Amino acid sequence: MAEVFLEAKGVSKTFVGVKALDNVDLTIGKGEIHCLIGENGSGKSTLIKIIGGVYRADSGSIKIEGKEIHEHGIQAIETIRAGVQIIYQDLSLFPNLTVAENISINQMLESNQQTVSWKTIQDSARKALDEIGEKIDLNERVENLSMAKKQIIAISRALTQNAKLIIMDEATSAITKEEVDHLFSIILKLKERGISILFVSHKLSEVFEISENITILKDGKQIGVYPTSELNNDKLVFLMTGRELEYSPYIYNQAMKEDTPLLSVEGLNKERQFQDISFSLQKGEILGITGLIGSGRTEVAQALFGLNRPDSGTIKMRGKVLEINRPEDAIKHGIALLPEERHGQGLFEEQAIGDNIIITVLRTLLVKLGLLSPVKKKTSADNWIKKLAIKTPSGDNPVNSLSGGNQQRVVIAKWLATEPDVFILDGPTIGIDIGSKHTIHEIIRDLAGKGMGIIMISDEIQEILDNCNRVLLMSNGRIIREVEDSTTTTAEELFDIVTRSYEKGVGA
Ligand SMILES: Nc1ncnc2c1ncn2[C@@H]1O[C@H](COP(=O)(O)OP(=O)(O)OP(=O)(O)O)[C@@H](O)[C@H]1O
Ligand SMILES: [Mg+2]
Repeated sequence: MAEVFLEAKGVSKTFVGVKALDNVDLTIGKGEIHCLIGENGSGKSTLIKIIGGVYRADSGSIKIEGKEIHEHGIQAIETIRAGVQIIYQDLSLFPNLTVAENISINQMLESNQQTVSWKTIQDSARKALDEIGEKIDLNERVENLSMAKKQIIAISRALTQNAKLIIMDEATSAITKEEVDHLFSIILKLKERGISILFVSHKLSEVFEISENITILKDGKQIGVYPTSELNNDKLVFLMTGRELEYSPYIYNQAMKEDTPLLSVEGLNKERQFQDISFSLQKGEILGITGLIGSGRTEVAQALFGLNRPDSGTIKMRGKVLEINRPEDAIKHGIALLPEERHGQGLFEEQAIGDNIIITVLRTLLVKLGLLSPVKKKTSADNWIKKLAIKTPSGDNPVNSLSGGNQQRVVIAKWLATEPDVFILDGPTIGIDIGSKHTIHEIIRDLAGKGMGIIMISDEIQEILDNCNRVLLMSNGRIIREVEDSTTTTAEELFDIVTRSYEKGVGA
């Protein structure tokens, strides 16, 4: 291996009731692209926060370029001085500051001068962007930028701090395939300059594409370090989860089909978003909607849930036209939506997991509708914690004690607790590890098997094909193809149709 940059040895960390890390080792070489992977709650973010000086380890040591850092009183500043920069999933940017200010912020803070000149800020920001060959308007406010651009700002900021190791904790969960490719080209440029990268992702295809070595965590233990070239997808999945994951196609039980479909959408239009959207959903069906980001699928989902008012068209439930103006209307009619953007989507992070599942706003509504008595509440919350295998010693613990992926399950549980007839899941497994993904798919199939109508929206065409009996392809705001029986096609075929229509602007 190349010269070692960072070496963590025997790191352990216990939170109340949870051994998050148990004697973990991690070694990253200079200029190496290393992946850290493991299921939700396996300890990845905790290890990163220990490296970054956010948490103190109970035991173990961390050396950077041979020098032991933070012996006792940990200091984040020490790690930064040693060249480690961490990009957390929320990116920690200041939305109301400009691009230039965000990139130069640390220098501004560190500088002893009373004021830092506008020119200094601009110059250093431009230099950082130039280093990775990016052109972004320095005076744009960061809140107006896409997630991918924000990431580039976060990387540029790391570079102004003379980063030698950049750690990215799930940097790619919210960006498109093209943007991931672009990010990877930047990562390769950084590598050429001798900068090391530690990359965390649940998307194994990305892990295989970018990494040279992989460290696997399971239940807080390091269970192996492998050169990426020695692993394949199945082996890696097996190491991570201890089981082999197999999919059989979801077969719709035709006996559930009724003359009047559970949900029918007719001629839904919204200027510049979607046109002529018509489809139906039967009880027990899992209908997949896929297409590139920007195809209009999320906007349609939001329209069905009262978050985005269409210009025209009707939505019927069991043949009856619905008036859906607000989410409350949709919930009342038995429609639930798991939104694509889940950060800040109604999780009260400091409150108990159980209370979050039976969230306050819904609670009032449900009690009013007679759907949920206070007694039912605790049982219901505990049931969902068990069903979704949310990793916690108790439902009374706060949501922010959960790992990222487990927090997502709380959001899913929250919607399931409303016992909807139609459940729309937009990106149901973003940020979820591969083993739990399988579990969530099984839960969705199970719900459909019992008669719930499910609409599953995902970029991942394979995920759609594995789990849906019928598929709609969207491009430029239109449904361009309906596949009546998903077992008659392949992911390659659908991907081809979607990308070709996108390039040709079909649908627009
Ligand atoms: N502040 C905290 N208080 C209590 N428990 C915590 C805290 N932070 C993490 N944990 C627990 O430590 C374990 C490891 O969590 P961690 O966030 O490191 O997992 P992860 O591998 O990053 O998972 P994910 O893929 O879901 O992001 C989990 O069981 C989690 O609930
Ligand atoms: Mg994490």
